[in-house]
Amino acid sequence: METSDNKNAAIARRHPSNFSGMASADQLDDGPGSALTGLGTRRRFIETLGWAGATLVAAPLASLLFPAANVASNAAQDFTFAILADSHTMGKRNPAMKKRLLAATKQINAIKPAPDFVMYLGDAVHDGNVEQFKYFEEIIATLEPKIFYLAGEHDWYLDMGEYYMQHMIRRPTPYYSFDHKGAHVMALHGSHLNDFWSARKLTPEERMQVAGDISDTTQGPFILGKKQLDWMERDLANVPTDAPILVFSHAPLYHYYKPWNFWVQDAADAHAIFAPFKNVQVFHAHVHQLVEHRIARIKFHGILSTSWPHPYPETYHALGLSGQMPRSNPAEPFDGLGWHIGQVQASGFVSCADILWTMNPPTA
Ligand SMILES: [Fe+2]
Ligand SMILES: [Fe+2]
Repeated sequence: METSDNKNAAIARRHPSNFSGMASADQLDDGPGSALTGLGTRRRFIETLGWAGATLVAAPLASLLFPAANVASNAAQDFTFAILADSHTMGKRNPAMKKRLLAATKQINAIKPAPDFVMYLGDAVHDGNVEQFKYFEEIIATLEPKIFYLAGEHDWYLDMGEYYMQHMIRRPTPYYSFDHKGAHVMALHGSHLNDFWSARKLTPEERMQVAGDISDTTQGPFILGKKQLDWMERDLANVPTDAPILVFSHAPLYHYYKPWNFWVQDAADAHAIFAPFKNVQVFHAHVHQLVEHRIARIKFHGILSTSWPHPYPETYHALGLSGQMPRSNPAEPFDGLGWHIGQVQASGFVSCADILWTMNPPTA
């Protein structure tokens, strides 16, 4: 098994375990429950997966940071799930996006035993139009495991979620939950924006353009909203406090970097709802990068994209990383991209392996 090749070692060196640097309070505000301590417990997390006779190594970047939760749970059973996000497919005008998403579906299909399900965390398409959705659906149809969706802003703000709700989410609300082998799974609508378009009389295309530009701050921050927060509270009312809670959201459920809308304004209200639970794992997309964080007992995992990696904002340091920020090579078609596989063990232990293609680019 490949565990200490030069490239891995170089990346590990860029992330020494000492903590330095804090962002200004207006850029990153984790509230009083923030726990940026415990960084001395960082460890390399290596997940070995059977994969068509090959061995996968996943030990990159942020997964070095925090040990996964290890909370006893009597009811959980072993299972795995895959996570895909941010494929931003654009139809025929950008075939590279298709190539990358197909590479991910092929790798997921090759996992033995197959993951119980795949969570798709939004930004399936780039411009939200039907042509792009149909193109995406053709590609994603190659995926064998069952897939669950939640929406990103690129899926939503051309037709206000009409196509995505009807064809992908297929439920009455864009947020929902289900229980699976002792774990409670929550898919949140983490890409909701307050109405910035009506007063400005924006066309759907203009609305989509603003919502799809992460650095256009006139759109305002993402919010969960009272209705969704109330639902979350009701949804968790009868869930055992030691059960693994797997939360999926498009945007990070904390305040990471406001200028790029790596931010959910009312995230602290969600943290308060999660507070009684001992084993809450939040997986979020939108940032197109590996980044991990912990607030109180809640652990956050940034999910890779299959389209392009976003640069790291300066507040990355405030999450406990120091040294040079990772930077992918744009000349490499798979660098800084990938997908993930999560695992829940009967003990309640939850882990997430990052299938970062920088280490092992797909060959096909
Ligand atoms: Fe995205
Ligand atoms: Fe997004």
